[in-house]
Amino acid sequence: MEKSPILTLQKVSKVYRTKDVETHALSDINLTIREGDYLSISGPSGSGKSTLLSILGLLDNITSGSYKVHDTDTHTLDADTQAELRNRHIGFVFQSFNLLDSLNVFDNVALPLEYREPALSSGDIKQRVERALAQVEMTHRANHKPNQLSGGQQQRVAIARALAGSPSILLVDEPTGNLDSANGDAVMALLSELNENGTTICMVTHDIRYAGYAKQQIQLLDGKLVSQSSSAKEVSLSEAT
Ligand SMILES: Nc1ncnc2c1ncn2[C@@H]1O[C@H](COP(=O)(O)OP(=O)(O)OP(=O)(O)O)[C@@H](O)[C@H]1O
Ligand SMILES: [Mg+2]
Repeated sequence: MEKSPILTLQKVSKVYRTKDVETHALSDINLTIREGDYLSISGPSGSGKSTLLSILGLLDNITSGSYKVHDTDTHTLDADTQAELRNRHIGFVFQSFNLLDSLNVFDNVALPLEYREPALSSGDIKQRVERALAQVEMTHRANHKPNQLSGGQQQRVAIARALAGSPSILLVDEPTGNLDSANGDAVMALLSELNENGTTICMVTHDIRYAGYAKQQIQLLDGKLVSQSSSAKEVSLSEAT
């Protein structure tokens, strides 16, 4: 049986209008991301990758078409309700990690959780943070500050921060862009392992080699989805490190 859809785009277009220029950043995109999927989005600079990820993450609105998160049509929602939906379902991982230098690893992971779910007790938070750090094998660095970690370790902490909120999907933007190839490979192996354990992932990368880690690959060209392919390539953490 097919898994249930988490994110569904139907005939989605995005037009940016500035004073005298119209840019058709996305045209007629149909895309369904289901539970357990691992999808990569690649394509040349300006092809619409970041625009697509912003739309999927409810950071930007579509111009036409429809975008559903689970069964909720997002088009009609006000900004607050969109933010709620985003907080509940979407975990973000960025190229630049975006960790707070003044907080240790534990607090970096705990902070968004405290903010999003004020009803959680400190014991619940501790449990969620510890579980997320264990998932990325960073338990032993819980008391370190970000500047005491390697780039790859910082990215793993950023992934733990996203996972701590138990999102329906991780949206990952160029996760290896600031990493050397050894750290990049380790982060990619971690994403594959998380996916094998059930985490749904949608990742933007311009690196064709890394796109191959995903189970489904899509390519954008001038805002259009030009090809879609699947591979069952499996990479385990131990193989790649
Ligand atoms: N806020 C904006 N206002 C106007 N045009 C924009 C805006 N954001 C993006 N664009 C345009 O939309 C198109 C798609 O941009 P987008 O950032 O999605 O590309 P990308 O595939 O992520 O590129 P890169 O690989 O360089 O990050 C580009 O032509 C870009 O100039
Ligand atoms: Mg981009």
